[in-house]
Amino acid sequence: MSKQEFSKPILITGATGFLGRAVIARLLASTPAELIAPVRATSQQMAQERGAETLRSALDREPTAAEAARIRWVRGDIEEAQLGMSDSMWQAVATTTHDIIHCAASVRFDLDLDEAQRINVDGTAHLLELAVLASRLGGFGCFHHVSTAYAAGTASGLVDADHLPADSAGNFRNTYERTKARAERLLREQDRVEVAIYRPSIVGGDSVDGETDNWNVLYAPMRMIANGQLPVMPNSGLALVDSVGVDYVADGIVTLAQSDRGDYVGHHLTAGPDAFNVSQFVDTSVAISKLFGRTPSEPQLVGPARWAALTTGVGLAARAPKSAPKVRRWGRLGERGLKGFAPYSPYTGVSTRFDNRRERLMLGVAGVSMPPALDYLETIATYAIGTNFGKQPLVTNDVSAVVDGEPAAPPLIEGEPVEGDATEGEAVEVAR
Ligand SMILES: NC(=O)c1ccc[n+]([C@@H]2O[C@H](COP(=O)([O-])OP(=O)(O)OC[C@H]3O[C@@H](n4cnc5c(N)ncnc54)[C@H](OP(=O)(O)O)[C@@H]3O)[C@@H](O)[C@H]2O)c1
Repeated sequence: MSKQEFSKPILITGATGFLGRAVIARLLASTPAELIAPVRATSQQMAQERGAETLRSALDREPTAAEAARIRWVRGDIEEAQLGMSDSMWQAVATTTHDIIHCAASVRFDLDLDEAQRINVDGTAHLLELAVLASRLGGFGCFHHVSTAYAAGTASGLVDADHLPADSAGNFRNTYERTKARAERLLREQDRVEVAIYRPSIVGGDSVDGETDNWNVLYAPMRMIANGQLPVMPNSGLALVDSVGVDYVADGIVTLAQSDRGDYVGHHLTAGPDAFNVSQFVDTSVAISKLFGRTPSEPQLVGPARWAALTTGVGLAARAPKSAPKVRRWGRLGERGLKGFAPYSPYTGVSTRFDNRRERLMLGVAGVSMPPALDYLETIATYAIGTNFGKQPLVTNDVSAVVDGEPAAPPLIEGEPVEGDATEGEAVEVAR
């Protein structure tokens, strides 16, 4: 595929999300393209209000009038046919749209298959219909689809960005991976419009300063360690944790989308051979916590058999007779932690290496790169723990101030509850 610079209108979904906002900021800064952004809203006015708030957050400042005028915020729900738009609106949007960047998805690991299918697969099918109509009406460039490296499922060893396992539950850790793979298959098996697929691994904070407002995935176990709530963690296989900065992923998408991609459809935005592992994640989280004056857990990493025994033990303790209230209480607290952790447990045994040699080279030439993985881990841990996970400004020269801000982390599982939704976003105790 030859080089196609963005100059014509781009429709971007998921603009309100963590990655979508970063992509929008880059499109505004580095291309002249007009943007159309469907967002979920109950009225056009609400769509505009959500848009204005999103743009402020994406730019981290008030947008200029010219920037604001370049984005048209419209009501749109990807789960609905025509995104819920009237026929005339649908036609108008298709007539205008030249490229699509499809970021919207549910990143929850714990949805049932039907629900995940509606958002991640049917949603993609609705966008594909728009692309096909746009192509018929006047011209369409490319459907840029944001997938995940974990669409490769439970494959082990080195995989390239086109690796797609058969659609069987056993090949995937959860409905998220499976439906992201299904969406890819849908796009890969059609030939009506050109498709490019971007597969980031775990998207973390900024690669330079660690900044983030998305406290999911790696940050959940990091917070538990920092709060002294994680005495034990499962660990098996190579236990690889592949994570990249949101800036790298957004720059990578915008750069690769405008590059000569040859015949390649899938593109990894991953740490690849540089990925760190669960032990390194734990060691860094503990060390940075101590640097900020905390008393972290120093979790013991246990293999699958001991982890299984532990979870059984906790279950038995939770059901202990009322005459043993301490055991019951311990069991119930433990059970609560384990329940939140369950969706992430499979990610402590990842043996997949996401080959990124081609992409790293292409992006390196364009000046888009990631720091070494362990440096990156240190950067995001410093920002996360130094801001007490977004609750206060980063204090780097007076760590006692940070600790004073949030004294005495609560003990094992008892403190901050593990928040509800388990998402790609929210590896409760262990990285995804
Ligand atoms: N975060 C990661 O670690 C990670 C890693 C690899 C790949 N990815 C991929 O990157 C993409 C963006 O993820 P993210 O982390 O930015 O997730 P996010 O912060 O949860 O954002 C998801 C976006 O999708 C939108 N959305 C969800 N359902 C929708 C619907 N029915 N109609 C319209 N919009 C809908 C959300 O809109 P609302 O604001 O209305 O909810 C939001 O804008 C996803 O495709 C994900 O699979 C993420």
